[in-house]
Amino acid sequence: MKDVRDLDGEAAEIMRMNDRGGYSVPTAGLYPYQWNWDSAFAAYGYAFLDIDRAWEELETLFSGQWPDGMVPHILFHQVDPSYFPGPDIWGGVGPLPSSGISQPPIAATMARLVWELDIDAGRDRVAALYPKMVAWHRWFMAARDDGHGAICLTHPWEAGRDNAPDWDGPMRRIEPHGIAPYERRDTGHVDQDMRPKKADYDRYLYLVKQGHDCGWDQAHLLGINPFRMADPTMTFTLLRATRDLIWIGQQLGADTSELPAMIARMEAGTETLWNPGLNAYDVRDMKTGEWANAVSNAAFLCWYAGVDPKDTLVTYERVQAKVRFGVASHDPDSPAFEPKRYWRGPSWAMMNMLIAMGMDEAGLEEGAALRRQTARMIETGGFSEYFDPTTGAPAGGQNFTWTAAVWLGWCSPNVRRGRWAQSR
Ligand code: DGY
Repeated sequence: MKDVRDLDGEAAEIMRMNDRGGYSVPTAGLYPYQWNWDSAFAAYGYAFLDIDRAWEELETLFSGQWPDGMVPHILFHQVDPSYFPGPDIWGGVGPLPSSGISQPPIAATMARLVWELDIDAGRDRVAALYPKMVAWHRWFMAARDDGHGAICLTHPWEAGRDNAPDWDGPMRRIEPHGIAPYERRDTGHVDQDMRPKKADYDRYLYLVKQGHDCGWDQAHLLGINPFRMADPTMTFTLLRATRDLIWIGQQLGADTSELPAMIARMEAGTETLWNPGLNAYDVRDMKTGEWANAVSNAAFLCWYAGVDPKDTLVTYERVQAKVRFGVASHDPDSPAFEPKRYWRGPSWAMMNMLIAMGMDEAGLEEGAALRRQTARMIETGGFSEYFDPTTGAPAGGQNFTWTAAVWLGWCSPNVRRGRWAQSR
């Protein structure tokens, strides 16, 4: 195990190494652009090194906001051949070259955490971001409401949980015809056993082509998109972020009047995501009404979202008892569990931080336990993208920004400021 003081230094060094000037990349090579939720976690991490740099990260993210309010999941600031699919395949229609889908909206939550660290330094910065964040949330409610108040995704990459077993049913039904031959770059950086398979990639590209070919016309896509999944990740993160947006707006004396209705709508929507047979919040296929019947780590964001957890704690204890370094991204009791393959089992430090944040707020001691477990995981496996939950071994990309950020702002025993400083 490494000395914790070395880990603080290493984390800070990774944040500097992945800084491209105004924005960060998740890691060089594998992900050489600005990713949406990575960037929001990065802002939180930078806040412990340089508060001005933290605000800059969020400002650059919102500089790519589309006229309709959508904030893309990738901003291609500088073309880099080490990644595929690039800007030409996506054909984003915003002010910067970008992808055409969004990602879990955690920016308002991270903006609040950053602001709480230095209220004076952040007032003007957050005031300028506030209307942009409201516009993004408004876009989600207009373009991603599943009809019951749950938030859906239109591409597996939109939930960030790219190849989770939750999507297997609808993905299998897609016939990926008409896609041009392509060469993957991800497996040149990372062992292919840790990445999605070719059949997944064919379908990812098929869905991208559909959006590209109609100029990302949301009304048109609603009619033709074969992949529409009402999802706990999107619903819980947007619900939580909207609560944080109200807090920010109230501190600023800004107009928050449209936000409570969004919250009420999503609170009703979360009720439609409770799968009693699974004893967990679950993904529901909007096309067929079928449950994914998959316990994912996103289910444990219910406390973070501030909704009724129902029996989630029982399910949480069950899945946590099966691994040494949870929270596993997929149920270890499921035949689809693969401890090293991307979202089909590995543990993710940044998901753990969000889950624990909600648990702390709900007064559950499991939050502090999860922080200790995550710290041990990073001490064991370093700053990798994700970890084998059975051993703590590193997996995916290395020198990863969000893992470094989570260490600096949550795991390190030396965190002095911020929300968790009092509870050490
Ligand atoms: C990738 O390329 O694997 C990314 O997760 C897409 O967002």
